[in-house]
Amino acid sequence: MTSHDLAVITRIMQKEAGISLSGAKANLVYSRLAKRVRKLGLRSFGEYCSLVENDAGGQELGEMIAALTTNVTRFFREPHHFEHLRERVLPGLVAQARAGGRVRLWSSACSSGQEAYSMALTVLSVMPDANRYDVKILATDIDPNVLAAGAEGIYDAAALEPISVSLRKTWFLPINDGSGRMRANDDLRSLISFRKLNLIGSWPIQRKFQAIFCRNVVIYFDGDTQEALWSRMTPLLEDNGALYIGHSERVSGPAEALLVNDGITTYRKRRSGELE
Ligand SMILES: C[S@@+](CC[C@H](N)C(=O)[O-])C[C@H]1O[C@@H](n2cnc3c(N)ncnc32)[C@H](O)[C@@H]1O
Repeated sequence: MTSHDLAVITRIMQKEAGISLSGAKANLVYSRLAKRVRKLGLRSFGEYCSLVENDAGGQELGEMIAALTTNVTRFFREPHHFEHLRERVLPGLVAQARAGGRVRLWSSACSSGQEAYSMALTVLSVMPDANRYDVKILATDIDPNVLAAGAEGIYDAAALEPISVSLRKTWFLPINDGSGRMRANDDLRSLISFRKLNLIGSWPIQRKFQAIFCRNVVIYFDGDTQEALWSRMTPLLEDNGALYIGHSERVSGPAEALLVNDGITTYRKRRSGELE
């Protein structure tokens, strides 16, 4: 992989996914893309770059983005966010839903679904009949491979470990193939819609959310891209809605003025008229 190839890949990732690959990550880029180069029977990274640049259908571009994104996630990662959701946000929303209101939550870089299922399990732990009301979780990601895994909802025993035994027994079914894997049951899966969405692309979202999880994704974006994202995302929160971000992230730019700190990497949207 020449420095020119790396520059081309860096430019494409920045433009298409907002992801900033610094020179320090050359080894990672090489090891992740070498598999694609070999699989496609190409002789060099140069050939691979030309293929991606001239890929009208976007097929290999999607594969390249999928290969270079980090999908690490787990159930109930950063558990304080789910405690905040259960104790500070959901009581009001449950009452609202039971009174005929609409409840919408968004897992905006959901990877293989563990974050969205953790949100759904948190909802079900305080409202086991949530399915009978207008309660929905939107789970989006740029990578179709992880979205397919999320929609399928099958996880191995090690991945399921952070879920309490009682929640596991109630909302998951064993696969029964001796592997220890379990699948989210219909009630759990039906709370979540998995959709492809690029956080730096257009968002076909019309209505606001009462809570947004945007965790462990902006760390891959540069400062300007992060600011622009917060400025687009914050208006999609209802007044007093909650925004949860990753442990090493922070909200920057004009959106900061619209939010109040409400715990560790947790914000609430200021109500209109509420002073800074
Ligand atoms: C490290 S995972 C975080 C998963 C989960 N939010 C969590 O905290 O456990 C980052 C996810 O962001 C997704 N991602 C990266 N760039 C994106 C973009 N431009 N739009 C949407 N998703 C993106 C990746 O595909 C990956 O699944």
